[in-house]
Amino acid sequence: MRVSFILAADEDDAIGAGGDIPWRMRSDLRRFKRLTMGHHLLMGRKTWESLGKPLPGRVTLVVTRQAEYRAPGAVVCSSPEEGVATARRAGERELFVIGGAQMYAALLPLVERIYLSRIHTRTPAADTFFPLDFLSPPEWVCRSREEVPAGEGDEYRHTFEVWERKPQNP
Ligand SMILES: NC(=O)c1ccc[n+]([C@@H]2O[C@H](COP(=O)([O-])OP(=O)(O)OC[C@H]3O[C@@H](n4cnc5c(N)ncnc54)[C@H](OP(=O)(O)O)[C@@H]3O)[C@@H](O)[C@H]2O)c1
Repeated sequence: MRVSFILAADEDDAIGAGGDIPWRMRSDLRRFKRLTMGHHLLMGRKTWESLGKPLPGRVTLVVTRQAEYRAPGAVVCSSPEEGVATARRAGERELFVIGGAQMYAALLPLVERIYLSRIHTRTPAADTFFPLDFLSPPEWVCRSREEVPAGEGDEYRHTFEVWERKPQNP
């Protein structure tokens, strides 16, 4: 099973502000839906609470240390690794880690592919960051890159990139 991250980050690697995503980007949401449909999604409890409900057509795994936590419509996992094991046991081919920063940091050793939407803005109010400076050759290779102008429902232009980690022993 491949472990993938999917995230949107601004030019300072900001991903969140006040418990939410700091921009409205309809084309990015559409791509997110197309890429993740039918798959397991793993998220931290804070990201789950910002979504408020499971995303249709996908299996939602919510990671929390709270033993009694209830997440209607989702599967509660006690660690990121338990979430990965749950998806693997279910026969998933590609698990999407959808955030937030704590989940990306915890699963960085396992990730093999990163779907990155680089939002061309800066966010002074940002309070959640995921540093992406590790994303460079030779360990990481950019497989595709697409510059996307701001369309209807998009606040900013963005660049969509797909990065893959090079196998350790090719
Ligand atoms: N731009 C993007 O692509 C994107 C994507 C997703 C989220 N976001 C944004 O990112 C922000 C949230 O990110 P975040 O990093 O603050 O929170 P998060 O990763 O969504 O959730 C953090 C929570 O996960 C649980 N957790 C973390 N490590 C754990 C471990 N080792 N074992 C068990 N549980 C663990 C804890 O829950 P408990 O406290 O319940 O124990 C922790 O409080 C929001 O602003 C959200 O909108 C942005």
